[in-house]
Amino acid sequence: MPERTNSSAVPRHVAIIMDGNGRWARQRALPRQAGHRAGVKPVRRVVESCAERGVEVLTLFAFSSENWQRPAEEVRGLMSLFVDALDREVEELDSNGIRLKFIGDLTSLNPVLLERIRAAELKTLQNTRMTLVIAVAYGGRWDLAQAAKRMAAEVTEGKLKLDDINSECLASYLALADLPDLDLLIRSGGEQRVSNFLLWEIAYAELFFTDVLWPDFDANELTRAFDFFCGRERRFGQTSDQVGAATC
Ligand code: FPP
Repeated sequence: MPERTNSSAVPRHVAIIMDGNGRWARQRALPRQAGHRAGVKPVRRVVESCAERGVEVLTLFAFSSENWQRPAEEVRGLMSLFVDALDREVEELDSNGIRLKFIGDLTSLNPVLLERIRAAELKTLQNTRMTLVIAVAYGGRWDLAQAAKRMAAEVTEGKLKLDDINSECLASYLALADLPDLDLLIRSGGEQRVSNFLLWEIAYAELFFTDVLWPDFDANELTRAFDFFCGRERRFGQTSDQVGAATC
């Protein structure tokens, strides 16, 4: 991959809800798993493209807490797709300077996948070009609940003072603690909702929705999302005058 370029117009942290695999497959009279398999190629494309553009963190929603309710065969298919993707891609991600990080209730995953995840995280730990976060068995509500539980435990043990709890403190217990704030959330597949993804982190993120189904998501669509981001005036609660003109 070419080296990344730096620009103030580039979002530091991009997250994607990769929706539409099932409909893509149905349109072709294929099983849903074929749609999920077709969804791997655009993952490679966006990882390469985001690294080239200078994005620092890319967070992908691969499997939600609620996706466990899908038919067992589909869940099994997705889990084995994740194992295969890790087996195939980690070497190249590592040689391209990408750090892999997984968030979610990983204890609920099967031991084979969990072992691959831990190995991939360890292997790529020192990489600094871009962090690729994969959300598996993740839900925004799960994240807030686990943060609250850990904070409560520390208060009980006397390690955390009740008076020290504020939004910064809470953020440091979330799965994405220590990473830059989310700038841009992209959702493919035509729905305009957040579906229990990064609930805390979307506070000031720009939201880009596209009808394109995930397997068809390409460099053009990513450029459209970045152009959209570029055109936004981000005020973070201030006035237009206070934040000055946008720089794109
Ligand atoms: C949502 O589409 C997609 C998923 C639940 C799975 C996402 C998985 C991939 C894109 C495979 C590759 C991922 C990695 C990280 C290697 P849907 O099934 O809800 O589609 P529908 O709304 O059209 O039914």
